[in-house]
Amino acid sequence: MTVTIYVPSDSGALALGADKVAKAVSKEISDRGLDARIVRNGSRGLYWLEPMVEVETEGGRVAYGPVSSKDVPGLFEAGFLSGHARVKRLGNPEEIPFLARQTRLTFARVGITDPLSLEDYEAHGGLAGLRNAVAMTPANIVAQVTDSGLRGRGGAGFPTGIKWKTVLDTASDRKYIVCNADEGDSATFADRMIMEGDPFVLIEGMVIAGIATGATKGFVYIRSEYPHAVATMEKAVEIARKASLLGVNVLGSPNAFDIEIRVGAGAYVCGEETSLLNSLEGKRGIVRAKPPLPAIQGLFGKPTVINNVISLASVPIIMDRGATFYKDFGMGRSRGTIPIQIAGNVKHGGLFEAAFGMTLGEIVEEIGGGTATGRPVKAVQVGGPLGAYFPPSLFDTPFDYEAFAAKDGLIGHAGITVFDDSADMLKQARFAMEFCAIESCGKCTPCRIGSTRGVETIDKIAQNIEPQKNLALVTDLCNTMKFGSLCALGGFTPYPVMSAINHFPEDFRPAATAVAAE
Ligand SMILES: Cc1cc2nc3c(=O)[nH]c(=O)nc-3n(C[C@H](O)[C@H](O)[C@H](O)COP(=O)(O)O)c2cc1C
Ligand code: SF4
Repeated sequence: MTVTIYVPSDSGALALGADKVAKAVSKEISDRGLDARIVRNGSRGLYWLEPMVEVETEGGRVAYGPVSSKDVPGLFEAGFLSGHARVKRLGNPEEIPFLARQTRLTFARVGITDPLSLEDYEAHGGLAGLRNAVAMTPANIVAQVTDSGLRGRGGAGFPTGIKWKTVLDTASDRKYIVCNADEGDSATFADRMIMEGDPFVLIEGMVIAGIATGATKGFVYIRSEYPHAVATMEKAVEIARKASLLGVNVLGSPNAFDIEIRVGAGAYVCGEETSLLNSLEGKRGIVRAKPPLPAIQGLFGKPTVINNVISLASVPIIMDRGATFYKDFGMGRSRGTIPIQIAGNVKHGGLFEAAFGMTLGEIVEEIGGGTATGRPVKAVQVGGPLGAYFPPSLFDTPFDYEAFAAKDGLIGHAGITVFDDSADMLKQARFAMEFCAIESCGKCTPCRIGSTRGVETIDKIAQNIEPQKNLALVTDLCNTMKFGSLCALGGFTPYPVMSAINHFPEDFRPAATAVAAE
C-alpha cells in the first residue's frame, strides 16, 4: 500500500525549510525504492513545530517536528514510514494539546487535506454547504447566515447576514462579492493559512455569498506579500472552473458565478474596504466617505458585499450544519469560533481556533506558553497595530467583541502580539503614531497631521521636555483623532497609544524617574 507523507507547503513552513525537507523525503523514497508519495498540505498552525511532517500509518497519522532536511535519512532508517522512528516524534497530531484544545470549524480541513484536491475537499465535507444553498432561496440563505450570528472577522465585527441582506435588497443589473485578503494587521496570518491550506472553502463561501445576494462576479484582493497564497488561489480557481464549481451553471444550477484574483500593491489602508474598492478599480487607495455604503454603491458603483476571508470561509460550515449548530459556540453576541493568531515573543506561536469566550490569560499563558524568552509577560497587543495593549491585570477579559470594547480594546482580526518585561511602552506608543503617519491615506486632517504631531510630542516626552504638558497634549490629540477621523486608521490609533499611557504610566516618565533617583 502506498504510504502518504504530508509536508506542508504553507509559507510559514516554507520559511522554516519545508521545501528542503520535501526534497530530502523524495530522495529517500526513490533511493530506497519505497512505495510512498508526498502530499504538500497546509500547516496545522503549530508554527514552533514546523516543518511538521506527518506519515499516514496503519494506526493513523504520526507527526514529527520540527524536521530539518538533515533529519530525514535518519528518520527513514529508524522506521519513519511505519511511525516507529523516535527522534522528533510528536505522535498523533490531533492529541498535541495545542491542537486537541481547539474547536476547528473554519479550519477543519487545514493541514489534513491536499489543498488543491477538490476530491479531497469533498471527501472531508466540502461543498455540502453549497449543495444546500443551491436548493434554497437567496432570502433563506441570508436568513441562515444572519441567524448563525456570524460577524465580520476583518475587524469591525459587523453582522455578515445584515450586510448580505442590504445587497440582496438593492436592485441592480450587476452586483459583486469582494473578498478582503489584504490581511495587513501585525500578528495575523489566518487568511493566508486558509488561502494556502484550504482555498476551496473560501471559493465555496464566495459562491454562496453570490447566490445569496444575486452577485455573479467575485474578486479576491490579496496583499502582494502573499505570493504563495496568490498562486494557490489562482490554481484553485482554475480547478473550480473546470469542475463547474465556478462558471455559468454552478454545480449544474441556474446560478452563475466567477472569481478573479487581484494583487494589492502594499498599503495598509488598502485593507479598509472603500480604499480597497478604489484600488480594485485601478485608482489610488484612498478612503471613500460613507454613505453610500459599499453594499449599496460599492465596486464600480454597484452593490457589493465586502467580507474578510475568514467571514466568507466560515459560511460553508454554517450552510452545511445549520445556523443553530454554529450559534451554539461562543458567548454573548460573539457567536461561533474565531481563529486566534498568537505571535510575538511567545513560546507556542500559531493558529488557535476556539469558540469565543476563552480569557486572554488562558490564551497567552496556557495555550501560548508565556514568552519565548521566559521573562514575565508585560503586555499583549490584541487586534493588530490599531489594537490596545493589555497588561496581565486584564488577562481575565474573555475573548468577546463587547468584553474587549468595555476595556477600551478590540479583537480586530484576532491577532495577539506578546511582549515581555523588556518592552518599552513609550516606544510602542510612538510606533503606533509613526505607523499611522506612514500609512495614512492623507484624506483627513486628524489622521494625516495628528499622527505626525503625535510622534513629535511623544519624542518630547521621551526627552523630558515638559512631560506633563506633552502627555496632556497627546491625550488631547488622541481624542481629536478618535472622534474626528474619517476611518479607523486615524480613529483607532489612539487605542495603542492611550492604552500604553494608561496601563504603563511608568514608561512615560523615564527622565522623571531619573530625576527622582538623583
Ligand atoms: C486601516 C484599515 C485596515 C483594514 N484592513 C483590513 C484587512 O486587511 N482585512 C480585512 O478583512 N479587513 C480590514 N479592515 C476592515 C475592512 O474595512 C472591513 O470592515 C472588512 O473588510 C469587512 O469585512 P468583514 O465584515 O467580513 O469583517 C481594515 C479597516 C481599516 C480601517
Ligand atoms: S483616518 Fe487616515 S487613513 Fe482614514 S481617511 Fe482619514 S487620513 Fe485616510
